[in-house]
Amino acid sequence: MLALRLIERKRDGGHIEPGEWRALAYAYAAGHVPDYQMASFLMACFLRGLDRSETHALTDAMLRSGDTLELGYLNRPRIDKHSTGGVGDKVSIVLAPLIASLGVAVPMMSGRGLGHTGGTLDKLESIPGFDTNMALYEARKLLETLNCALFGQTEEIAPADRKMYALRDATGTVESIPLIAASIMSKKLAEGLTGLVLDVKRGSGAFLPDLERGLELANTMIALGADQKCPVVALVTAMDRPLGRACGNALEVEESIAALKGEGPADLMDVTYALGAEMLLLADVTKDRAEARAMMEAQIASGKAAEHFQRIIEAQGGNPSVVDDPAILPQSKEVELFVAARRGFISRVEPRTIGRGIAALGGGRTKMEDKLDLSVGFVITARPGDWVEQGEPIATIFARDRSGVESGRATLRAAVTIADEAELPLPLVSHRVTSAGVEVLAR
Ligand code: URA
Repeated sequence: MLALRLIERKRDGGHIEPGEWRALAYAYAAGHVPDYQMASFLMACFLRGLDRSETHALTDAMLRSGDTLELGYLNRPRIDKHSTGGVGDKVSIVLAPLIASLGVAVPMMSGRGLGHTGGTLDKLESIPGFDTNMALYEARKLLETLNCALFGQTEEIAPADRKMYALRDATGTVESIPLIAASIMSKKLAEGLTGLVLDVKRGSGAFLPDLERGLELANTMIALGADQKCPVVALVTAMDRPLGRACGNALEVEESIAALKGEGPADLMDVTYALGAEMLLLADVTKDRAEARAMMEAQIASGKAAEHFQRIIEAQGGNPSVVDDPAILPQSKEVELFVAARRGFISRVEPRTIGRGIAALGGGRTKMEDKLDLSVGFVITARPGDWVEQGEPIATIFARDRSGVESGRATLRAAVTIADEAELPLPLVSHRVTSAGVEVLAR
């Protein structure tokens, strides 16, 4: 009866009280509300929206539907980074060991790839033996010893969100800012953080391509963090082209390892350092942004960041020699160069097309149950703004067979535009958002 009353009230534009959100979330997590009623309720929320107090109440209800990490006893700052997702976005794999090696606990709970975007868990699982499934007590142990756990949403964390997000995915109700913000923040707050850094992507490959919608999401999540005494800082970063060169699971792990050894592409390093500096500032490791960057550069130059990743890999059951020998990652059967069809400026490398192209090669999902080929993807060396000659190699295709190579060629032909004039890409890091407001960093 409760569900029906709430569906009708939301459908008619009414307000749901905190206790009702709690009752509904608990009842749904416990299996007492059928999917058809919850789907109808979520559609009413999608169409009618949620006000500030409802968004807070939903977040709190989902957070409290499960366990939390409770890491206060560590007596260390606990900071995570969350990205709204994109193509080639391997920042978490570089940032988690890097920041953990500087004494900050990083409980990094990540997701899997879906649609055109990749997922950190899939990427990490390309490391032979690497296990991202763990119970909360195991994550706690890793955080005690190594300041870092790289894991997926466990059964224990925000079970109401887990069920609701899967249902939203199947019922066209994902793209609602209050529902997205509540879903992400319920999981992040369950990590027992002392601070959170958000990487809000904008541009054609982003989950929410428009800047205005990205800023609205950032502000909603910042407010939800403030409600629970967790300071949140958001950077808006570009996703109108892939980040870095490698796009595809094992290929991105290889690039992340190179980045931890000081050989990462400049755009990947800039985004990593910008987000990492916010993490170190929130952790109070330093009060100075330039010093934060220098600390991270020193960890990489000294080899300590890569060494820390090696220890994390070993602790999570993976083969640590991957850091010295990335050739032990899954290797595709076919490797082929792709060359420029004409001379001119690279004017676009369309991330959504690349992301879908990876899925077509077998390296991405169209539904959650899909099995992935972790070896496939692209390494795209040409960047928007580069001048190229006809016949010059601009990318490499990694595929499992000849038809994959052909599909990869079609993807690159569609994704890469070469023109007579260079087109200005979006600034890499354009806005910084805090509870004090929006700062424009670059236009
Ligand atoms: N990621 C989440 O965890 N939840 C959403 O609703 C959207 C993206």
